[in-house]
Amino acid sequence: MGTAFSDMPLFVPNRYRGKLIVVEGIDGSGKSTQLSLLSHWLRSQGYAVAFSEWNSSPLVRQTTRRGKKKEMFTPTTFSLLHATDFADRMESYILPLVKSGAIVCADRYACTAFARDVARGVSRRWVRNLYRFALHPSLNFYFRTPLDVALGRILGGRDALKYYEAGMDLGLARDVEESFRIFQGRILDEYEAMIEEVGFHVIDATLSIEEQQGIMREIVVRELGDSLRNGILHQPAGRDLNGKTTTSPVL
Ligand SMILES: Nc1ncnc2c1ncn2[C@@H]1O[C@H](COP(=O)(O)OP(=O)(O)O)[C@@H](O)[C@H]1O
Ligand SMILES: [Mg+2]
Repeated sequence: MGTAFSDMPLFVPNRYRGKLIVVEGIDGSGKSTQLSLLSHWLRSQGYAVAFSEWNSSPLVRQTTRRGKKKEMFTPTTFSLLHATDFADRMESYILPLVKSGAIVCADRYACTAFARDVARGVSRRWVRNLYRFALHPSLNFYFRTPLDVALGRILGGRDALKYYEAGMDLGLARDVEESFRIFQGRILDEYEAMIEEVGFHVIDATLSIEEQQGIMREIVVRELGDSLRNGILHQPAGRDLNGKTTTSPVL
């Protein structure tokens, strides 16, 4: 599959001082846990760090909510709406911050669309083309988790699965949990198939939280070390870029 798309670059090269650190993986793989620890660590060293979460742009919030509630989305419209959300965050938040020299930590990025939208049935080529405006991540971490481990982590302590989250729109199974399992399995297969294509740093997400965090930090130092020391924007300790007080690092 990798060769089919290799004639054109996937993303826009980052020519700015700042960095973009991305975490990817199926639900329950531990992405948010690891990114939160990493961002605390980076902040504790005085770097200006900002967060961007998937599907969080105010521009499309109302439409997303309404469309989900009424179960109106097709795979294509759902994909386009996520791309709109992404474009808005890219242009109004991520790019200006990276240009100014900050480190932006993204909880899910374009590869989430590559995995999820394709699991929904849109074409691999089409969705990659859609996201070509995205800034190339400085580091793209993929938290590799067997399906059962991830499902065990999330199905235990949470409310009912939501319609689209479980892929119920695809008619994979009548049972929500069974549908979720099949859908997450498809997403996992897509992530596994794109590792080389998108240049993932693969983290074994079955390791302890501390072990994974240690590996992540090693990779950050090894891959970004020199450029972190030179170009990155600093900010007063204990403040994040939104001016909120941040808690001290956990690890
Ligand atoms: N290495 C780990 N081992 C065991 N449980 C973990 C690990 N990492 C995270 N968890 C737990 O699994 C759940 C999902 O973690 P989270 O970081 O929210 O995953 P994601 O953001 O990928 O969905 C949380 O309850 C979290 O505390
Ligand atoms: Mg999360």
